[in-house]
Amino acid sequence: MQKTEYIWLDGKFVKWDEAKIHVLSYTLHYGLGAFEGIRVYKCGENLGGIFCLKWHVQRLFDSARIVGIRIPFKMEEIENAITETVRVNKVLSGYIRPIVFIGEGEMGLYAYNNPVHVAIAVWPWGTYLGEEGLRNGVRVKISSIQRHHPNSSFTKAKICGYYVNSVLAKKEAKEGAYDEAVLLDTEGFVSEGAGENIFIVKNNIVKTPLAYSILPGITRRVTMMILEELGIECREDRITRDELYLADEAFLTGTAAEITPIREVDGIKIGDGSFPITRKIQGKYFDITQGKDEKYLHLIEFVKM
Ligand SMILES: Cc1ncc(COP(=O)(O)O)c(C=O)c1O
Repeated sequence: MQKTEYIWLDGKFVKWDEAKIHVLSYTLHYGLGAFEGIRVYKCGENLGGIFCLKWHVQRLFDSARIVGIRIPFKMEEIENAITETVRVNKVLSGYIRPIVFIGEGEMGLYAYNNPVHVAIAVWPWGTYLGEEGLRNGVRVKISSIQRHHPNSSFTKAKICGYYVNSVLAKKEAKEGAYDEAVLLDTEGFVSEGAGENIFIVKNNIVKTPLAYSILPGITRRVTMMILEELGIECREDRITRDELYLADEAFLTGTAAEITPIREVDGIKIGDGSFPITRKIQGKYFDITQGKDEKYLHLIEFVKM
């Protein structure tokens, strides 16, 4: 990770190395905290564009609300803080990580009176699953780790502790020499990647899992907008593992992974490897994120540096 100069912490900028917390912080022990992952794209000379800032901040507040964390800032204050963090660090192209966490005080499980903190960091960052993966597709493995059941973890929330599930799935995939894991839900249907949503294409129709056990991804939402604009039918439905194997195309969507084709699942090649629809969506997604498509400019918060 490439360090930047400042981190926003509870309303003030502190030096990167001085943004520290107490070892008895509640979130460190129990994982109850919420976070986001946002990208800023270079949209011009000295012009960054934060992609879907409002949607990410809304999801951060939704995540906190689902688990009963009261964020001591208004949404607009967090939006401004994110924009300022990008500006002061002069990151034209990178990743932004806001996190809401609970500090020290009570150490029992019920400690809703402990202070709630917010931190925002940004750093320059390239592709998540690699340039080669973006171009030619990644190899994924169906994980032995299941995606959370929506009644054991509230899957619409992006909660710190929930990510142990994704970390274990990712570890299994990487140590088995795959690029990414795909998790099934507790009923055995395809759910999502360790940090991405998933789509398949069969006979020119696109399918993506219903929003039951998945994180409602912002890139998923943008992908659906693109599909609508392209006049390609997109269905939200259950997807079986063998349907994924037999897809003409499959791809992952996420702020970090962007639009990444899947070239192989469990050693089975997907389609003929040409991914025409995925490539169309990918091309459009990059035009949109870099501010080259007028119709989507409202999704970008421009930051002059
Ligand atoms: C588990 C999981 N699913 C899906 C996504 C994709 O969401 P988004 O497109 O909002 O980044 C992410 C990334 O945040 C994730 O962690």
